[in-house]
Amino acid sequence: MSIPSAMANLLDGKKGLIVGVANDQSIAWGCARAFHGFGAKLALTYLNDKAKPHVEPLAREVEAAIFLPLDMNVPGQVEAVFETIAEQWGELDFVIHSIAFAPRDTLAGRVTDAPLDGFLKTMEISCWSFMRMAQLAEPLMTNGGTLFTMTYYGSQMVVENYNIMGVAKAALESAVRYMAAELGPKGIRVHAISPGPLATRAASGIPEFDALLEKARRKAPARELVGIADVGTTTAFLAHDAARLITGQVLYIDGGYHIID
Ligand SMILES: NC(=O)c1ccc[n+]([C@@H]2O[C@H](COP(=O)([O-])OP(=O)(O)OC[C@H]3O[C@@H](n4cnc5c(N)ncnc54)[C@H](O)[C@@H]3O)[C@@H](O)[C@H]2O)c1
Repeated sequence: MSIPSAMANLLDGKKGLIVGVANDQSIAWGCARAFHGFGAKLALTYLNDKAKPHVEPLAREVEAAIFLPLDMNVPGQVEAVFETIAEQWGELDFVIHSIAFAPRDTLAGRVTDAPLDGFLKTMEISCWSFMRMAQLAEPLMTNGGTLFTMTYYGSQMVVENYNIMGVAKAALESAVRYMAAELGPKGIRVHAISPGPLATRAASGIPEFDALLEKARRKAPARELVGIADVGTTTAFLAHDAARLITGQVLYIDGGYHIID
């Protein structure tokens, strides 16, 4: 999906951080391309040295002005990213948090059996990391801004094999509402974007993911699977000033899947 030229400068002058690009299938990459296409200036992160060669060419493609490592398990790294943004830009208009993690054995097991360490790690990387980024972004969003995170329908309904990640996404969606209420008076909006299933690397950790894709295609009113460009363009719309009175949403980009019994 290409950006219509009439919309090319929709986000001109806006500056934002996108976390979660692992490769060209990542949802965060769909967002980076769309936001760049609409004229936004980007800061991008990569997980570690192993990931860097995969992300670097992508960062170049969207002319990322800031490109830094960020592993939420490494103390001080998220703070360093926001310090660099403060030094180089002095302000921030949007953050896209598109990361999640659960230890393999915790994800594969029943929620009933989740060990404490697996539960805490899942919550830390998949939920608390967004709260921490909001905390660090707040002082930089002096003209207001928008904070985005990625969630999934498995937060609301029991989706086979989604297990502990459903619990983390439910907490994440609740955090979105509380932070939207707390930050709204400063003109900072907070949203969770809820895409239908997409074949990404994170998704490959979920058993029988192909069956989930097939069900999504069959059941969604649109009879189509969602692409990362769909997620990117819709997210970009919510970052535009025209959407300034929309906040605290869990916005489904799923071809209507979630309305069907
Ligand atoms: N793929 C889907 O079907 C789907 C559907 C709805 C929501 N989501 C959500 O979208 C988000 C992005 O996932 P994706 O599907 O694009 O997969 P992806 O594998 O491309 O992205 C996941 C990202 O999380 C990052 N990450 C993992 N642990 C991290 C850590 N400790 N610190 C920093 N980053 C870390 C990875 O480096 C990677 O960039 C996730 O929150 C996921 O739950 C995915």
